[in-house]
Amino acid sequence: MEITNQLTAEEKYSIIRENGGDTEHLLKILHELQNASGLNYIDQETAEMVAKEVGLPATRVYEIITFYAMLKTKPKAQFVLKVCNSTPCHFSRSEEIVQILEEELGVKMGETTKDGMFAYHYIPCVGACDIGPVIKVKDTVYGNLNREVIQKLLSDLRNGKRDQ
Ligand code: FES
Repeated sequence: MEITNQLTAEEKYSIIRENGGDTEHLLKILHELQNASGLNYIDQETAEMVAKEVGLPATRVYEIITFYAMLKTKPKAQFVLKVCNSTPCHFSRSEEIVQILEEELGVKMGETTKDGMFAYHYIPCVGACDIGPVIKVKDTVYGNLNREVIQKLLSDLRNGKRDQ
């Protein structure tokens, strides 16, 4: 199931109006809409709605959203899987781990799965070289990875069985 912005049009209109509803309060409006979206981003439909309400061209609103680092146009994944690719982990097959993630999740590095749950990218050494290759999720490091371990980890995260 693809998860998109979880607000109804009515809820978006109320957020816009409750936060000033004009160009002077544009950043506040966008920030509040992003926070309430459920996935920490502003989708195209919402940006267009804001533009119409405050009386600006949609292109101007997009420019503002892309200018400010705190505003996002893509949903943020619930779990970001950080794959160590420093030398020891590299030699213990970190590239193979990325290949497995790509196959299991159906998205490339840097993309978010359609259900909004997962994204993955490389990070440098996390100090667990003896159990490489490793993935760090929030503050937890998972090591000695192979396809089976990764499948179990993804399934547990999906089902809320890992303490994250
Ligand atoms: S090189 Fe990967 S944990 Fe150190």
